[in-house]
Amino acid sequence: MGQRKKILITWGLGYIGSHTATVFIEAGYDVIIVDNLSNSHESSLEAIKKITWKTPKFYELDLRNYWDLDTVFEKHAKDIALVIHFAAKKAVWESCQDPFLYYDHNIFWTMNLLKVMNKHWVNQIIFSSSATVYDAENLLPPFSETDKTKTTNPYWTTKLVIENLLRDMVMHKWFSAIALRYFNPIWAHSSHLLWENPKWVPTNLLPFLLKVAKWEIEKLSIFWNDYDTEDGTCIRDYIHVMDVADAHFSAAKYLFDRIEINETSEAYKADPTFEICNIWTWYWKSVLEMVDIVKTVTDKEIPYEIVERRAGDVAVSLANPIKAKQLLDRESKRTVVQWVEDARLYINK
Ligand code: NAD
Ligand code: WQD
Repeated sequence: MGQRKKILITWGLGYIGSHTATVFIEAGYDVIIVDNLSNSHESSLEAIKKITWKTPKFYELDLRNYWDLDTVFEKHAKDIALVIHFAAKKAVWESCQDPFLYYDHNIFWTMNLLKVMNKHWVNQIIFSSSATVYDAENLLPPFSETDKTKTTNPYWTTKLVIENLLRDMVMHKWFSAIALRYFNPIWAHSSHLLWENPKWVPTNLLPFLLKVAKWEIEKLSIFWNDYDTEDGTCIRDYIHVMDVADAHFSAAKYLFDRIEINETSEAYKADPTFEICNIWTWYWKSVLEMVDIVKTVTDKEIPYEIVERRAGDVAVSLANPIKAKQLLDRESKRTVVQWVEDARLYINK
């Protein structure tokens, strides 16, 4: 990895960013977090410190402000080995209501970041993409990285646009980049000090399922049950958030292992590379299977009702993780049942 020991995580106090920060800190890196706290809490810094005994350098800033970001790079760029870019608003329904909010947020602010990185000779980046870029309605799952992409809403479009921005940076600006495509991260750090703790109400299955198990809400609404699947409900790959965090570390290690330090040992020279990897588990579950797992492990009734389909849902959205195993030597280790076992204490609290 050479002399540079700092990792800058954009939007690093969010769900996945905060968990990823713990992995890099525990591996001996100094983590810098930039976040505007629009969907996270500064208390996550305390949680990261309790877990790792180190507090990341935190800058409360908005990526929309180029000069704020530039100031951070002025100060740290010579020590930054890598940027991990989690930046995105991620609510499909919101992106359909306000596409320009998503184009500004997810694309324009990413361009700010790339400009600042380029200006300060920081040229390695891992991007948090999404498996929603695959043409799920016309592909036979599990999807591979070379499969056709097609997006049906502005949020998913922003992911594909950013992947192509990175491709340009690699071809023309000596960047190296890895885009990690994942879909349904779940659960939390084993300390239960960090978890999905957004300011907006989460619309994902697992937070609702947990609330029903804890009797915080009366019942789960299952969005339709006559999809073309065995039990009629949608099938997804629910991946433990720590497996997602570990995957970012494996991607970083892949990039670091490719770096040759030039004579001046000031800048890093590595042949530019752009890779896309699916980060998945092979533990695919339907909505009803997830209900049964939580019910069995927690020995609690999980009331639910079948309601109308939710716009944008597809029956099966799955990808294969073979390339991540071959290229990054990364495969997910935690199964859904382990997740629920781990969550049992939380659910029964
Ligand atoms: P999150 O909402 O928990 O975290 C996003 C963070 O970004 C928050 O801390 C928020 O305060 C911060 N932020 C938002 N706008 C900002 C701005 N303009 N400037 C600075 N900070 C800003 O999201 P997450 O679930 O951790 O997702 C992180 C990434 O992973 C996103 O790119 C998302 O698309 C991707 N992803 C998430 C999922 C999922 O289901 N959670 C699945 C696949 C991919
Ligand atoms: C999973 C399944 C629902 C809630 C979303 C985003 C995607 C990505 C991951 C960022 C679906 C069903 C859910 C509920 C239900 N985010 N469900 N009742 O839709 O697969 O993907 O998060 O990249 O962009 O679209 O995840 O957890 O919302 O839904 O029946 O109250 O659970 O219909 O089949 P999804 P999800």
